[in-house]
Amino acid sequence: MTAGATEEQTLNPKTSKDVRAVLVTGGASGIGRAAAIAWAREGCSVLVADVDDRGGAETVEAIEKLGSRACYQRANVADERECEFLVERAVRHFGRLDVAFNNAGIAGPSAYVSKYPAADWRRVISVNLLGVFNSMQPQLRLFESQGSGAIINTASVIAFRGVAGASAYSAAKHGVIGLTKSAALEYGRMGIRINAICPGYIETPLVVGPDAAIPDRMLADKIHRTGARRLGKPEEVAALVLWLASSSASYVNGAAIAIDGGFLAS
Ligand SMILES: NC(=O)c1ccc[n+]([C@@H]2O[C@H](COP(=O)([O-])OP(=O)(O)OC[C@H]3O[C@@H](n4cnc5c(N)ncnc54)[C@H](O)[C@@H]3O)[C@@H](O)[C@H]2O)c1
Repeated sequence: MTAGATEEQTLNPKTSKDVRAVLVTGGASGIGRAAAIAWAREGCSVLVADVDDRGGAETVEAIEKLGSRACYQRANVADERECEFLVERAVRHFGRLDVAFNNAGIAGPSAYVSKYPAADWRRVISVNLLGVFNSMQPQLRLFESQGSGAIINTASVIAFRGVAGASAYSAAKHGVIGLTKSAALEYGRMGIRINAICPGYIETPLVVGPDAAIPDRMLADKIHRTGARRLGKPEEVAALVLWLASSSASYVNGAAIAIDGGFLAS
């Protein structure tokens, strides 16, 4: 992503040639993996960061099969030093970093506030909100020095709604939007764009399968309230993320964009 997109770049909706090296947190699964693979298809080098070593290795393998460069780095986004190392690793390995997708997230338990275990509340905030801040700090130091860069943070439709039982998740995702907007105002004039995506209900292990955070009956109700009447696919979210990172989105900054099949419209 260049500081001032040329007219040609702005007018070519497909261009993401200016994005060559990306960092994806939570890249071992779901939305992060789909974005990592989509960038690889465009010929980008991808640093996959996660706490799931096996999933991270699988993402790297899938990317290498496409003929692109990738490496995995174990990193807990709740740890600021590990986030700092990710940026160092990307620059050392690929010689550059153009885009960061701060996407790692967890659901946490479901409980009303008075009964929510405080340690779990702190953990959800540490990963989902502090983790985004920890990730952005070294990314912004690098992007500031190079006068270019794009950051996409993963929030949620739950950044606009309360959910009974999910106060920590909802508070963290609301926080991601505030962090994104404030940083966009701070760094926009330096050629750095910072946006948030707000997925609705997307078919990933967070939502579907044995470890899903949402009971089947509740998920059926969410789908019913979604205009599209289906879950979203991680690849559909990845397409938005790639567009936001590209110079086609050169005037999009500080936005919180829903990708939810119409869930918020209901
Ligand atoms: N799936 C949905 O419906 C949905 C909806 C809205 C928002 N989101 C958000 O999208 C993001 C991706 O979720 P997903 O649906 O792909 O789920 P997922 O569980 O498939 O992927 C999340 C990834 O984050 C990793 N992770 C968890 N804690 C981490 C930590 N401390 N440090 C580094 N990595 C960590 C996990 O190991 C996993 O690989 C999350 O932020 C989630 O809150 C998902």
